Amino acid sequence: MKSYDEILEILKKYNQEHLVKYYDELSDEEKEELLSQIERIDFEYMNELFNANHEFDMKENKISSVPAIEKKKIDLSYYEEIGAEKIRNGELAICSMAGGQGTRLGHSGPKGTLMLDLDKPTSIFETIAIKLKDAQQKYGVLIYWYVMTSEQNDEETQKFFIQNNFFGYDKEHIIFFKQGELPLLDANGKVVLKDKANVFMAPDGNGGIFNALNNRGIIKHMKVNGIQTLAIGNVDNILIPMIDAVPLAIMEEKGIKLLSRSFMKPSPEGKWGVFCKVNGKPRVIEYTETPRELLEARNEEGELIYGDAHYGCNYFGIDLLEKIVTEKLPMHSASKKNTGLMENGELVEMQTFKYEAFIFDGYSMSDDIIVYRGEKDEEFAPIKNKEGEETAESAVALYKAFYKMK
Ligand code: UTP
Repeated sequence: MKSYDEILEILKKYNQEHLVKYYDELSDEEKEELLSQIERIDFEYMNELFNANHEFDMKENKISSVPAIEKKKIDLSYYEEIGAEKIRNGELAICSMAGGQGTRLGHSGPKGTLMLDLDKPTSIFETIAIKLKDAQQKYGVLIYWYVMTSEQNDEETQKFFIQNNFFGYDKEHIIFFKQGELPLLDANGKVVLKDKANVFMAPDGNGGIFNALNNRGIIKHMKVNGIQTLAIGNVDNILIPMIDAVPLAIMEEKGIKLLSRSFMKPSPEGKWGVFCKVNGKPRVIEYTETPRELLEARNEEGELIYGDAHYGCNYFGIDLLEKIVTEKLPMHSASKKNTGLMENGELVEMQTFKYEAFIFDGYSMSDDIIVYRGEKDEEFAPIKNKEGEETAESAVALYKAFYKMK
């Protein structure tokens, strides 16, 4: 580890000396921890992020649509048979992205630990374990379940699994790995302190998954275990159909290593990002960056041309994952209010910038994408907010309706 003097040199170079302003007041242990936190920060990169223009200028690019394969229009049993063979061979693993902060939900623990009012109280994590156990019955195989956590919630998440006896699933087939993190910056590009002894760090977005898969040895683990495809999904969608044979068969038939599930937006105003190609490369464009004429464009059948919503269920072939991890993904910046330490030692609410990568930023490394469209109510029951839309109550109602529970 670098010495205090060496760290101070770096801080001076980047105009960030405020980070050690209270160093002398700290205990030896705190001192060491703070220095190690600072040492892990790539200040050059943070400067780059702060000065970059994160706006995406649509006008400079050629946008085209990606026609979806519709679940209701294909011979499901044909694809199921082909894909089932792959699952039985152990070629599919799933990964839950559970490293987010869940700010909007305001639940005190990791999002996956939220208890749901089903016929017996069931956590979000358990809903996934139930699907894994069903698959074990159906295919006679234990599917690997990778769970992406963050520095902030890893310990609590793992503890929850232990306390719940891994929900009755084989614990050797549940593997936790931590995503990376980045410091928050203030309006002047200074790294924010959470308190006198700690830098304010936040997970680097769900697109941080690619680096994490690589750095934490998951790609290697997949290869050793003969896993060909990783289905990656948001932890907060309790209807997410990650374990499905059909996408595997479609990917093989088309020879495309990337498939993302979608549903048709009920109206142009739906706030989801939609699939398209930008300069020939697959991409998801956010609602806010989509020009009005594209949002409203319809085909001859009256269907929205850019209406397939990305809802966070993606299948990546291992070769594609290996390619993506060699690239530095673009970062998005979000301005959020947070309580941080001012230089005068006061804790105040301040405007901060958080930098995140999104999972679909990885698409640019693929030449093509399959968009596989299902029905919204059969695949999508998100839990985002405490009140209003997309709450635990609304998700549970969708879940019960799907499984015909009372
Ligand atoms: P959201 O973008 O909804 O973020 O994540 P969130 O953290 O759950 O909630 P808010 O925005 O703070 O209220 C979509 C999915 O991506 C995961 C989340 O856990 C969720 O499954 N995610 C998000 C990560 O795994 N890591 C991140 O850094 C961000």
